Amino acid sequence: MSTAATAPTPGPPLWLLAELTYACPLHCAFCYNPVDFAAHEDELSTEDWLRVLNEGRALGAVQCGFSGGEPLQRKDLEILVSQAHRLGYYTNLITSGIGLSEARIAALKRAGLDHIQLSFQDSTREVNDFLSSTRTFDLKRKAAALIKAYDYEMVMNCVIHRLNIDHVERIVELAVEIGADYLELANVQFYSWAHVNRDALLPTRDQLERAEAAVETWRARLDGRMKLFFVVPDYYESRPKKCMNGWGSVFLTVAPDGVALPCHTARMLPGLAFPNVREASLADIWYRSEGFNRYRGTGWMKEPCASCPERERDYGGCRCQAYMLAADPAAADPVCDKSVHHAALLATVERAQHADEAAAIPLVFRGRRESAELKRPF
Ligand code: FES
Repeated sequence: MSTAATAPTPGPPLWLLAELTYACPLHCAFCYNPVDFAAHEDELSTEDWLRVLNEGRALGAVQCGFSGGEPLQRKDLEILVSQAHRLGYYTNLITSGIGLSEARIAALKRAGLDHIQLSFQDSTREVNDFLSSTRTFDLKRKAAALIKAYDYEMVMNCVIHRLNIDHVERIVELAVEIGADYLELANVQFYSWAHVNRDALLPTRDQLERAEAAVETWRARLDGRMKLFFVVPDYYESRPKKCMNGWGSVFLTVAPDGVALPCHTARMLPGLAFPNVREASLADIWYRSEGFNRYRGTGWMKEPCASCPERERDYGGCRCQAYMLAADPAAADPVCDKSVHHAALLATVERAQHADEAAAIPLVFRGRRESAELKRPF
């Protein structure tokens, strides 16, 4: 493995994300799994994952997230959580709730699981089920009740976009009703399936302003009883986010087939090979692989990032977004108004202001060409 000469020596990967499987009963139109997820079906074995957990902890990782796909699809989830707990990680399950029976949550509690994040797609059965292209709303309500019964703090997560952003108040009401301690209203970022559906999912400026005002009102009303997070979509910003807190600085994701990545979607980047945990140790991968070193720090930057006074603040934004929008992973993230590609992004935002055009765009659901069973309810 070669090391980029300009890459600084990083600290340890504090956050290990174990993407256990791409299998998922849902078909969300904004899923962040790769669009070609079916091409990566060769999942790691239990023994492989146990080794990854050991190596991650030895490297200094302190938090371990179990996600997917739907991590409950893996029968060995409890074994892996138990090992992670024993090693001293803070463990976090990121789930749709589908498959969370009483027997499983009891076993996960015994295994030492610390924290659960439960996703909903909207506040009503009709829209939730449409957006996931499955009849899952009632199952999620049952999962929420189990999470509370087993005395977990609960983070409810709802991905927000054009088709549900006007329901933000009702989504907050649902979170209050199910006893969530935190509600993440995460505006969709346009990667993977959300990128495929971008023109149907990008909200209008008015929608965004109304939603932000509604969240503010609810924050005041709740007075800290439930924490509300509202993440604005990148496309409405003029400076990029510090994606993943900086490439290869904190996060280490291991995909279901063992490929180690600095972010969920990095494997789409051209000209960059990412090592597999079946063939290399996590220490080699983190400190010495080309994939993790290529965009570390600022040495790889070209203009306008290279001389930008904010380069240490945002590290040029997101490499994946730069590739998707500027066809160059080393370009400035086009979210930045200093990027020569920013005008094209603004044109996309302007297009989104026309309601009729967006309403006519059919959604592509993950793993389905179209929603066969469920009609669009709006
Ligand atoms: Fe890959 Fe931002 S999502 S670097």
